[in-house]
Amino acid sequence: MIRNARASIDLSALQHNFQRVKQLAPSSRVMPVIKADAYGHGMIQVAQCLQQADAFAVAQFGEAMALREAGINHPITVFQGFQNQQQLQLMLEHKIRPAVHQLWQIELIEQLTAGQLSVWLKINSGMGRLGIQQTEAEPAWHRLQQAPVINELGLMSHFANADEPEHPANQQQIACFQQLASQFNAETSLANSAGLIAFSDIQGDWVRPGIMLYGASPFANKTAAELGLQPVMQLTADLLAINLLRKGATIGYGDLWACPEDMPVGIVGVGYGDGYPRHAGTGTPVWINGRETQLLGRVSMDSVAIDLRNIDRPRCGDEVVMWGPELTVDRVAKCADTIAYELLCNASSCR
Ligand SMILES: Cc1ncc(COP(=O)(O)O)c(C=O)c1O
Repeated sequence: MIRNARASIDLSALQHNFQRVKQLAPSSRVMPVIKADAYGHGMIQVAQCLQQADAFAVAQFGEAMALREAGINHPITVFQGFQNQQQLQLMLEHKIRPAVHQLWQIELIEQLTAGQLSVWLKINSGMGRLGIQQTEAEPAWHRLQQAPVINELGLMSHFANADEPEHPANQQQIACFQQLASQFNAETSLANSAGLIAFSDIQGDWVRPGIMLYGASPFANKTAAELGLQPVMQLTADLLAINLLRKGATIGYGDLWACPEDMPVGIVGVGYGDGYPRHAGTGTPVWINGRETQLLGRVSMDSVAIDLRNIDRPRCGDEVVMWGPELTVDRVAKCADTIAYELLCNASSCR
């Protein structure tokens, strides 16, 4: 479908960010995280672009199967593992590596008698989401080690607070993980984007960058540019209308904004139906004709209003940048009280 809102993807920026990961974690293998349609950027095209990756990681079984169907032959890790015997069998056949986080998953693996399976034992070092509890890690590890089909066995965990490097819980997670890793002499994977940047000494055998590959910052107080990252997605839409409104005229649902003077207001063809955040309010930056201006009033399903007072000769059809190289997705996310991850994922339908 032809849409007014378009998310274009800069694959050279993706490559640049991948190289940045390699610079920051030179001794680790890299497993780009391409779940949720590669954070909205297109899972298959991102995997095809990052041929030099050592593996890929997704959340779900179905995502891994879609990669195999598209001819991606890299090792693939599935963070949620398998939900049943049938999925496990298919993972074995397609050489897909599950993260194991429940004891019943180990039982299913123990029942396999033929084939070779690589597995991550995922432990809960403090995230409290998917992971075997610390007290159960040792027996779980030994059971997996002895299962007839196990080929490679690694230890994985995930940070809850790496976006705040000073948070004391990070050091607790690191200590827990490292203690188990040395006990098992395991292949390790702990660091996401924030972790691999903030804690260079614990990068381990495998790093799992997501958001930094797409050119957004994992930290609130550091910009992507400061981290040497380039934005990969640009979300643009056409200027649909230019209205000359009188002082006092109100704009959009809820009359949240009234013109302080006679002024030109632009209507842009993008809204929350395209993934643009409804909670972006007046003042959220947008970019048009080489200048930054602002959103006015409430975001609608398929349009937003923008201030054209300081814009030189705007015309219907002009392209408006909602985020991209000129205007970071992190800034827009902050204005909408959310994170770049959400905005990028939600814009995937505009590609
Ligand atoms: C287990 C796991 N590892 C790594 C990542 C990548 O995280 P980030 O996008 O912050 O780099 C994620 C993303 O949520 C994840 O769930």
